[in-house]
Amino acid sequence: MAEPLGVAVLGAGHMGADHIRRLDHVVSGARVAAVADPDIDRAEEAVAGREGVSVHTDAVAALDAPGVAAVLIASPGPAHEEALLAAFARGLPVLCEKPMVPDSAGALRVAEAEARLGRRLAQIGFMRRYDAEYQRLKALLDGGELGRPLMLHCVHRNVASPPHFTSAMLINSSVSHEIDAARWLLGQELTAVSVLRPRPSAAAPDGLLDPQLVIFETEQGALVDVEVFVNCGFGYQVRCEAVCEAGSARIGEAHTMAVTAAGGIREEVPQDYLVRFADAYDREVQAWVDATRQGRVTGPGTWDGYAAAAVAEAGVRALETGVRTAVDLAPRPGPHRRTRA
Ligand SMILES: NC(=O)c1ccc[n+]([C@@H]2O[C@H](COP(=O)([O-])OP(=O)(O)OC[C@H]3O[C@@H](n4cnc5c(N)ncnc54)[C@H](O)[C@@H]3O)[C@@H](O)[C@H]2O)c1
Repeated sequence: MAEPLGVAVLGAGHMGADHIRRLDHVVSGARVAAVADPDIDRAEEAVAGREGVSVHTDAVAALDAPGVAAVLIASPGPAHEEALLAAFARGLPVLCEKPMVPDSAGALRVAEAEARLGRRLAQIGFMRRYDAEYQRLKALLDGGELGRPLMLHCVHRNVASPPHFTSAMLINSSVSHEIDAARWLLGQELTAVSVLRPRPSAAAPDGLLDPQLVIFETEQGALVDVEVFVNCGFGYQVRCEAVCEAGSARIGEAHTMAVTAAGGIREEVPQDYLVRFADAYDREVQAWVDATRQGRVTGPGTWDGYAAAAVAEAGVRALETGVRTAVDLAPRPGPHRRTRA
């Protein structure tokens, strides 16, 4: 048996702590070798009880720690560019949580830096591509049985937003998942964005424009609408319906336990993405570990991370100006021709 892949996890917050648990207890072929978080207490808490894991306050120091052969980036988005470039400089394969880099200029720098290496090193954490329901929808659309897709109707609701959440983050953090899923499901780039703002919910923190209706146009004339509502209060819901020329298909309504009592039927709604997408995260990280151990990189890449950032940036401009905004996509760097998403 080959040695397990030694992983440095950068960021030990909500996602990082869950990935540390996943690497050590769920996926096979990997172990956590180092953890970095400027909040040392958080890092130590996340690795409590594990042997042979070094703990760092500096992310770059963790990359040089003994036993590190790959990196999982779960720090906040603005820290990702520095971490990705440091990993590239060391030739370390990376799994980077979304958003790859929040601003499109930084995202393009990362895509260009990887292209200069002449080989892929990064997989970006758009885990919906690993969700069983999304994979079935993708296979159905690719099979052509329903004809050409005309519209995607999407819903993205969270119970409550974290304290630092801004109106722009509804688009560049939450809707970034729909941006990637739409590009992937349709195999097309998104070319323009409009954002409508209903009256904010009384449950939203003061000043937060929540909910929003975000509408994307695609290069082949399809439309994608996303209701994003991050303080809905009742559950975590992600739905997508594809409307095609010869039929429609809907995902995101998988039923959990139904309790009949007191004259009614009650179904459970997950409260958190870590529950709704638990299997997708497991499959995503297992696929990354397997590919890395075979010297390969698969899944969404830096071009997808850049495209998502460019589309989100246009979306934030559309939100701020109230005007339909075209997406400005740079030419794809490197030896790849510009191919479908
Ligand atoms: N794929 C998904 O569904 C999903 C869901 C939630 C969050 N995320 C992404 O995961 C990342 C982390 O989000 P979170 O919810 O865990 O945030 P969090 O605030 O819970 O945790 C972030 C942690 O990173 C630490 N940190 C700050 N700067 C750092 C640096 N330079 N190097 C290392 N650590 C640093 C913080 O101290 C904190 O402990 C973000 O990119 C976020 O968008 C992805």
